[in-house]
Amino acid sequence: MSVDLTIDYLGLQLDSPLLASACPLTSNLESLQHLRAAGAAAAVLPSIFEEQIEHEEMEVARMLDFWALSSPETSDYFPQLDNYNTGPGAYLKLIADAKQQLDMPIIASLNGSTMGGWVRYAGLIEQAGAAALELNIYEVSCDPLVDARQAEEEYFKLIRAVRDTIQIPIAVKIGPYFSALPHFARELASLGVNGLVLFNRYLAPDIELESLEYVPALELSTPSELRLALRWIAILRDQVELSLAATGGVHSTQDVVKSIAAGANVVACASALLSRGPHAFRELKQGLQQWLTEHEYTSVKQLQGSMSLKHCPNPEGLKRANYMRALTSYTPSVSVDSVSTDPVSTDPR
Ligand SMILES: Cc1cc2nc3c(=O)[nH]c(=O)nc-3n(C[C@H](O)[C@H](O)[C@H](O)COP(=O)(O)O)c2cc1C
Repeated sequence: MSVDLTIDYLGLQLDSPLLASACPLTSNLESLQHLRAAGAAAAVLPSIFEEQIEHEEMEVARMLDFWALSSPETSDYFPQLDNYNTGPGAYLKLIADAKQQLDMPIIASLNGSTMGGWVRYAGLIEQAGAAALELNIYEVSCDPLVDARQAEEEYFKLIRAVRDTIQIPIAVKIGPYFSALPHFARELASLGVNGLVLFNRYLAPDIELESLEYVPALELSTPSELRLALRWIAILRDQVELSLAATGGVHSTQDVVKSIAAGANVVACASALLSRGPHAFRELKQGLQQWLTEHEYTSVKQLQGSMSLKHCPNPEGLKRANYMRALTSYTPSVSVDSVSTDPVSTDPR
């Protein structure tokens, strides 16, 4: 008996819950084709950054100013900036080409955190044929005078502006640093956001000790990272009207099953694809089908949310209770006695 893997995400009907998350493998048509052949149900293109778009807009504005000043009579020949595609054209072309050549939804991604002219780029993304837009919001709050409400309001302003610009579904991809995430998620839903992607990995820089500089550092994820998203997806599932995507640490069939049981509509994978190639999706799809069959599910929807806060048998396990249990049940791998004979611990300093 074949199992029904179809699922709704952001109002898009997907043939499975496997989403290729924004990463280098989704940046060109050829690898998108490989991803689709291996079982990706949809793909999120790499983010285009606020800085990239603003930079290019400024360059074009400078160029137009220069021409207008040097030859006023020619200025009429140049389009108004408002109607002009000043954003990175290759990105829009990738959306259009992918839409034409692939039978799966293509989700574009914008990365930014402030209001600005770049927001209208969302309109160009929609026109190019994106099925949805993922807003990858990333702001590092450093100012002690800005409180949580103000910081969130900045996001809301941005999201409102994008919502006013486009009709296609919007997903918001967030990091885990919110003190009242369910409230934030509810506000997003009330703004007309369709889904939440949790959690982006806010790659923290490392210190290069010789040059004393902060340097970018990127390691692929490990499966243990998924637990953060699992908990919050389970908490949010029955409390907000949003599609939910689990990202960060989905590597195995078990990770996919757990994500959906917690309440995710889809899993968004990057590291598994980057380390094992698009073929990882073939394994995950077969594995999911097999797991569901063996456990007598007829569809992925039947599994979805069965371990949410509301439906799981031990909701306390998602809250404080588990914390204490985890700490008190830990067994050190070295004997506590051997620690006192360690040369480092007897160092007279
Ligand atoms: C090399 C690389 C590039 C990425 N680029 C983007 C990006 O452009 N936009 C974005 O929202 N996420 C980006 N991500 C994050 C992934 O889409 C994904 O959400 C994250 O890595 C967690 O999933 P994973 O554990 O499967 O890697 C990138 C990740 C990697 C490893």
